[in-house]
Amino acid sequence: AGARPLQFPIPANVYAETVVSVKHYTDRLFSFRITRPQSLRFRSGEFVMIGLPNAEKPVFRAYSIASPAWDDELEFFSIKVPDGPLTSQLQKIEIGDTVIMRQKSTGTLVVDALTPAKRLFMISTGTGIAPFASLLRDPDTYEKFEQVVLTHTCRDNAELTYGQELVAELENDPLIGELTGGRVTLYNSTTRESSERMGRITALIGSGKFYADLGIDKLDPETDRIMICGSMHMLRDVKELAESLGFEEGSLHHPASFVVERAFVG
Ligand code: A2P
Repeated sequence: AGARPLQFPIPANVYAETVVSVKHYTDRLFSFRITRPQSLRFRSGEFVMIGLPNAEKPVFRAYSIASPAWDDELEFFSIKVPDGPLTSQLQKIEIGDTVIMRQKSTGTLVVDALTPAKRLFMISTGTGIAPFASLLRDPDTYEKFEQVVLTHTCRDNAELTYGQELVAELENDPLIGELTGGRVTLYNSTTRESSERMGRITALIGSGKFYADLGIDKLDPETDRIMICGSMHMLRDVKELAESLGFEEGSLHHPASFVVERAFVG
């Protein structure tokens, strides 16, 4: 595929990187990988601001990096919003195109914001799975936690594919396959299309079906840590649930038992 010419010069102080692959999952979701700037350092789970060089003042949006900190490419998982200022254009990128990126990464979904524990629960909806795709491929996650449970709830089955492929590939990964063996559990549900398991994660945990399905003990701040990523409403409800179970929100300055971050929405 030929690179399309840039319409505008690259702004100062941003990285300009090349698209190396694009994968469309549904008419609402796609993932892509770009080259990684040599000087970029980030913690697995963090986000960066990305944009396209298609205007004098390009639109930047927060994107969680879905690849781990050791990877020599950067992966992102994105929604497509038909009239979204960035995603309406971003969804059209092809191999060889340029994506621009601000130079600083940040974010709260990092293992250092949690105190050590036995089990780590990653609760996600939609594109909120992206930071967990990074953390699940980082050896540090397995150094700190014995068991990892990833929940991913989407509207329909096709939207679950990205996470299912991610977890299936973990076992075959030459770098971390040995670490992850038998320690990662994927828990899927859909809310708008029938599937093997239906319902919002808040309802599934609330009713106890979540624990029964997995055959595990209830969430307990003594043994467990929780990371949450999804839409604003989802964050509010899952955070409320976590707090009702005695979990306390942490940060890098004050590590505790759960952390929260809003997924990119448009
Ligand atoms: P629902 O279909 O009942 O709205 P979206 O793609 O709109 O971000 O939604 C992703 C998933 O998150 C959907 O399955 C959606 O369920 C679910 N969801 C939306 N709001 C909440 C919430 N407040 N708590 C838990 N899950 C939610």
